[in-house]
Amino acid sequence: MARCMSLLASSRMLTRPRMSLAFTCPTQILTGIVPGKAAQQCLRWVSAAPMLVLAGCGDRQSALHAHGANARRILDLIWSFSAVAGATWLLVMLVLAAALLRRRLSETTRSPLEIDSHQERRFAQAVGSAMALTVLALVMMTTASFFAGKSIASLSGTETLAVRITGHQWWWEVRYPGDDRSQSIVTANEIHVPVGEPVEVELDSLDVIHSFWVPNLAGKRDLIPGRPSQLTLIADKPGTYRGQCAEFCGYQHAHMAITVIAESREAFEAWQSRQNAVASAPGGEEERRGQQAFLSTGCALCHTIRGTPASGTVGPDLTHLASRRALAADTLAMTPGALAAWIADPQSIKPGAKMPRIALSADDLNAVVTYLGSLE
Ligand code: CUA
Repeated sequence: MARCMSLLASSRMLTRPRMSLAFTCPTQILTGIVPGKAAQQCLRWVSAAPMLVLAGCGDRQSALHAHGANARRILDLIWSFSAVAGATWLLVMLVLAAALLRRRLSETTRSPLEIDSHQERRFAQAVGSAMALTVLALVMMTTASFFAGKSIASLSGTETLAVRITGHQWWWEVRYPGDDRSQSIVTANEIHVPVGEPVEVELDSLDVIHSFWVPNLAGKRDLIPGRPSQLTLIADKPGTYRGQCAEFCGYQHAHMAITVIAESREAFEAWQSRQNAVASAPGGEEERRGQQAFLSTGCALCHTIRGTPASGTVGPDLTHLASRRALAADTLAMTPGALAAWIADPQSIKPGAKMPRIALSADDLNAVVTYLGSLE
């Protein structure tokens, strides 16, 4: 859904000639005004447009593919609102067509200034009925919305697991509070949840207002600095669901994605115990050199790697960086090449991000990438 919206938004940025091409193409082709190559271009544009829209509506991030109780209530609401709005639109179009037709027929027989009291009464009745129908539709939609909200709120209190999410420009800090500090997990941009279990997501922000939105699983919830809020998340099918910050929060708002991985209880617990462990010690000369470079340059001031002296909290915790699927809040895939590019020049990939460029020699950069790549 968000991708659909962003496609719509980006379509607004199309240049004027392209827009006019899109609108005039079908008629020009049909009437044979556009010859040869231009016609081919037109056809390509016209046939590509629906594909573009469909490509933006995959089910990895879509409110139309609900995979949780929360999202299903919202989807029911979307369909019921669409049905009421669609029926209203259809009714208005029918009445408009009937009025136009009637006017054309009556033009020849009667003066428009002539007042027919019988007809006036019928008009008053029609307008009164339309107003009553409008009020009825609004009451029905408000009632449906109230019950959907109530049903979503009723899930609260049934949770078996809590996750604390803190919004940062432009990434998500994810914490699983444990009984003691050593049992608590800190990661970033990725939430693992056991399938079928309600999860309490506590939301807060450290800088500006963000909005947490994983459309397949739940509705939006804002992260307002100093005003924590909650949301109950349930995934009833194993899978990977993409979410997106849904509140404009600065330059890299569009690169602030989050992934929810729903898996079986066993797989979740196995992940949990791997994440609880401190980082593995460097396994070879290259990894040792990488760790040394990491600790002796600026990296350790901003990032934590548990089990090493690195304990910065400005950027994401990197203790198990290589176990994550993506880098920089889903901006890049987790590959050695992307990691090297990100460390070498983060500002060219995500301009405005808090991560500065650290001057490292090519050998040190390779060593750091090898070391970070070993942190699974
Ligand atoms: Cu965070 Cu938009």
